Amino acid sequence: MAREIKPGIYWVGAVDWDRRLFDELIPTPHGTSYNAYVIKDKKTALIDTVDPSREGELLKNLEVLNVTVDYVVSNHAEQDHSGSIPTVLKHYPDAKVVTNPKCKLMLEDLLQIPEEKFITVNEGDTLSLGSKTLEFITAPWVHWPETMFTYLREDEILFTCDFLGSHVATSDLFATDEREVYEAAKRYYAEIMMPFRTSVRSYVKKVESMNVDIIAPSHGPLYDDPSFILDAYGEWASDTVKNEVVIPYVSMHNSTRAMVDYFVTALIRRGITVKPFNLTKTDTGELAKALVDAATIVIACPTVLVGPHPAALYAAYLANALRPKLKFASIINSYGWGSKTVEMLTQSLTNGKVELLEPVVVKGYPKKEDFKLLDKLADIISEKHEGLNR
Ligand code: FEO
Repeated sequence: MAREIKPGIYWVGAVDWDRRLFDELIPTPHGTSYNAYVIKDKKTALIDTVDPSREGELLKNLEVLNVTVDYVVSNHAEQDHSGSIPTVLKHYPDAKVVTNPKCKLMLEDLLQIPEEKFITVNEGDTLSLGSKTLEFITAPWVHWPETMFTYLREDEILFTCDFLGSHVATSDLFATDEREVYEAAKRYYAEIMMPFRTSVRSYVKKVESMNVDIIAPSHGPLYDDPSFILDAYGEWASDTVKNEVVIPYVSMHNSTRAMVDYFVTALIRRGITVKPFNLTKTDTGELAKALVDAATIVIACPTVLVGPHPAALYAAYLANALRPKLKFASIINSYGWGSKTVEMLTQSLTNGKVELLEPVVVKGYPKKEDFKLLDKLADIISEKHEGLNR
């Protein structure tokens, strides 16, 4: 159903209530939406499209509004926003795709859109629709190299595509339930934007310096109070870490489990917030979200066939690839007869500026002296955390 945002400006996307996995990788427990927008003027512009699985809804929305699309602005080439462009071009054969040169090349590669269909724009270029003006702002690396924002000057609406979005399916056009949207947006930031923290910071500043009445991302609800999401992004992308330890763990025969249970209590006793994640039960989005603020990660696992349990290796890979602002890392490991677990996990944690703290490695079930080593690790973490953010 098309929904009016301001006179002549409509949301024409699709809410995907049932989607539970994105890119065959990212769990989306609350569904998502693919937001597309129409600006009706002398000329009609469509800002982005929807995932191809939902293109029928987009076409219906355009039909109900009784518009002929003149321009399809593509802010991002990933298929959940661009994938319906070929179908839109079939229905509106005179429409042109407006995008930056890098995005054009990617759309040619990914969707085989012919070159003559494009109008290319660069930073600061404008496109008049009649009484309304679109301004294009290149914004690479949130989260692909070709991303851009589109600014509707007269109405002060900024279309940011993935940037500032959230994977949540809701009937609210605007972020009304701020608690729900905050959590969904944080998880989304962790999974998609966190590796590009430096870019994120600069775009937050840029958007803050503009006159923006409404932020219209391509996933989740819109923001009629831009400071809500900009302040949140500013905090998540800052260098400030919290007095928190994230413990992704897996245990086969309870030796690791016994150490994790003891260690969690030891950290709590020292006034540290602890977030343990049983890797066989949690979804990786929750783990990613916890990594946004934490100062320390401690990966705990048994040794399987000389190396770490694969679930722990995956957690280490993820913690590395998402580039959180972690300052410290350590490992808790139980093994039966031989182990290269510490070496292998350490190799996976080399990205970034993480200081590795002395791991606790135990043969079999932990003994009295092993628990003392866990207390020692908790003491070291506590001391390190006291020196944080000074
Ligand atoms: Fe929502 Fe990068 O696509």
